[in-house]
Amino acid sequence: MPQGTNAQLSTIVLAAGEGTRMRSSTPKVMHPIAGRPLVEHAVRAAAGLGPDHLVVVVGHSRAQVVAHLESLTTALDRKVVTAVQAEQKGTGHAVSCGLAELPDRLTGTVIVTYGDVPLLETETLRALLAEHNESGNAVTVLTSVVADPTGYGRIIRDASGSVTGIVEHKDATPQQLEIAEINSGIYAFDAEVLADGLSRITAHNAQGELYLTDVLGIARADGKRAGALVCVDTWQVEGVNDRVQLAGLGAEYNRRLLEHWMRAGVTITDPASVWLDAEVTLARDVLLQPGVQLQGSTAVGEGAIIGPDTTLANVTVGEGAKVIRTHGSDSIIGPGASVGPFAYLRPGTELGEGGKIGTFVETKNSQIGAGSKVPHLSYVGDATIGEHSNIGAASVFVNYDGVNKHRTTVGSHVRTGSDNMFVAPVTVGDGAYSGAGTVIRRDVPPGALAVSGGPQRNLEGWVVRRRPGTPAAEAAERALAAQDPDREEQ
Ligand code: UD1
Ligand code: CA
Repeated sequence: MPQGTNAQLSTIVLAAGEGTRMRSSTPKVMHPIAGRPLVEHAVRAAAGLGPDHLVVVVGHSRAQVVAHLESLTTALDRKVVTAVQAEQKGTGHAVSCGLAELPDRLTGTVIVTYGDVPLLETETLRALLAEHNESGNAVTVLTSVVADPTGYGRIIRDASGSVTGIVEHKDATPQQLEIAEINSGIYAFDAEVLADGLSRITAHNAQGELYLTDVLGIARADGKRAGALVCVDTWQVEGVNDRVQLAGLGAEYNRRLLEHWMRAGVTITDPASVWLDAEVTLARDVLLQPGVQLQGSTAVGEGAIIGPDTTLANVTVGEGAKVIRTHGSDSIIGPGASVGPFAYLRPGTELGEGGKIGTFVETKNSQIGAGSKVPHLSYVGDATIGEHSNIGAASVFVNYDGVNKHRTTVGSHVRTGSDNMFVAPVTVGDGAYSGAGTVIRRDVPPGALAVSGGPQRNLEGWVVRRRPGTPAAEAAERALAAQDPDREEQ
């Protein structure tokens, strides 16, 4: 690199603005796209350069932003320094606040980006840095040619095409307003030129702000080189100012993420209805059917089929599993297992290899072992079920006594009848059976058959006597008369 060997690379991410147009009690840069706050996207792009210093300038509602940045230390494997800009006096002032947190007499290159520009990629910053170094510029600005430049700073070039300055929309002449090349707000600066320029800018402009953009003009006037790198992919430099842009950039981010996974070997039947978070990982030959949302740290193994109409947050899905019309969070679905249609997996569900959580089944904080099945209409809460057991339809693990939660343990190779109630705490031993409608209040030893309730009694004629004149009574009378034509009317 043409940079001196001791030269440092610093990045400053500006995120102190208020974001009034979001009309939100959440700071603008904390609104998420693909499960990550805008500022996290910006910080990850900057951190991707592996800079010596990484500073985020915070201001409005900074407590939430600072807390989030602190939470990223492990994921990024580095500390993110925050600089406070108490009053928003302009982008130049913001960068000065950032520099104040960096070593005195900083040398090398300073990259400036924005916390509300979520699609910017590290690759683009790397290209900006390369252009900056190779052309020996003091300032290199990332620009873009856009259809509607309204509101942006315009790039001023001389007759030879070299960049001489940046003029803000509000300060521009009618001719300058015709310029379609805009300032993205992302730059590479020589650190010393930046510090010197910032000490010389004034607020003598239409907005009464300290403009970072003026540093470029000052450098040029001093005879330093300035240049631009045109970013053809305009999405990468677009910022979020309101919720319409949040949705627009969110959709584009998602489209790009889906494209990445499709190129990596994932089939997505209907990309328009599938939404992924940035952190999600998908193995080869995963099939995502329409209406799928995968969130947080969800990871899907090879050949698994998800959807249609499934939302999973922080769920690990094993190879070859099938998850259909399911809502799940913080759960593990084993290889070859089958879930749904219409299943609800609440946190702490662990389904073993080849197991089944079937239709209209809700599970929570339960381990269901390999090959075990809960096929129909049941609630499994706070339970441990061994391997190759089958829970009959319409069963409930009665885990709550109104005050405390209790666990149920079911062994392996157990067969429980339909409509069983497991009144926890209770244990069902290996190889045990239970009859239909059993209320299991006491432990069932291995291999026993549990039954509860007395023998069935039929009170003959009860409906006709006690519910006379009802459709049920009339139907019963007709049926009884058909059985015995000589029977007298009662
Ligand atoms: C700025 C640029 C403009 C460029 C545009 C791109 C200046 C003077 N103008 O304009 O040339 O086309 O960005 O979007 O730099 N911020 C702070 N503290 C402040 C002011 C801003 O941290 O005191 C942050 C904001 O949170 C935001 C970014 O800097 O992330 C840009 O601020 P914004 O007010 O949107 O800049 P513009 O006036 O739009
Ligand atoms: Ca802006």
